[in-house]
Amino acid sequence: MPSESKLQSSLPSDLAIRIEDLSISYKINVESKKTLKNAVMRASKGQRVKTKTVNAISNLSLDIPHGSVVGIVGANGAGKSTLMRSIAGILPPTTGRITVDGKISTLLALGVGFNPALSGRDNIILGGLASGMTRAEIEAQTDAIAEFADLPEGFIDMPVRTYSAGMYGRVAFSVAVNLTPDILLLDEALSAGDAAFKEKSFARMRELCKQASTILIVSHALASLNELCDTAIWINKGKMVAHGKPNEITDQYLTFLNAGKLPFSYEDL
Ligand SMILES: Nc1ncnc2c1ncn2[C@@H]1O[C@H](COP(=O)(O)OP(=O)(O)OP(=O)(O)O)[C@@H](O)[C@H]1O
Ligand SMILES: [Mg+2]
Repeated sequence: MPSESKLQSSLPSDLAIRIEDLSISYKINVESKKTLKNAVMRASKGQRVKTKTVNAISNLSLDIPHGSVVGIVGANGAGKSTLMRSIAGILPPTTGRITVDGKISTLLALGVGFNPALSGRDNIILGGLASGMTRAEIEAQTDAIAEFADLPEGFIDMPVRTYSAGMYGRVAFSVAVNLTPDILLLDEALSAGDAAFKEKSFARMRELCKQASTILIVSHALASLNELCDTAIWINKGKMVAHGKPNEITDQYLTFLNAGKLPFSYEDL
């Protein structure tokens, strides 16, 4: 869902995003059973809940110029979504700093932020309001967004909870890519929808990439990243291990995964 971000004067004018020595850790509860009895026993002994710290992002620094399209690759659990959530302002840095210049539209987990009781159309309006558009601006675009999502007859006016996962993904993608944000964050969004919709979303992505928008794409579809992005980063265990030309980075990543260069590897990792 789109979100407002702050403009900080400290950012050089050519930069859309500056990430400085960013670290993000999660505290997780390691107690196996969460029961009232356990809690009481623990309290009576004056013990605290055992926690473990997961360092999801460690000391990451990156400058992203306006208009660049950045692909982000890495294995499951590498920290990609954590990084995207923190750029979106949803997750505060544990240490370090992120500075953003522009209005951000995010498609992080598909449809996060959608109200399931409202119709697709109302959720489009909600998405627009959340990104700081006026009601008139959104209404001028609602039909185009609904048309882009191209749901089966009547579904756009039904509650979102009645949607299939693919239908949900179509509306979420349509909102994110049609609100003309300054900065677009897409986490795995290229795989939304069926083959026909994939084709259409890819075409829309190409258009956005040609415009001046700054785009960050997390995807396992390496061939798509090679085509769309002008730079790529590879994150492993919370650290940035490589930053450079997309085909070089995706090659390094594939070699690391020992997956070879079979054509299917590019879309299935
Ligand atoms: N809310 C959370 N609470 C605790 N740990 C978390 C939370 N979210 C993510 N993690 C942990 O942080 C690390 C990075 O997770 P993240 O979701 O950023 O990975 P990812 O690169 O997006 O992976 P994937 O490709 O599977 O989407 C993982 O070890 C994960 O278990
Ligand atoms: Mg993820």
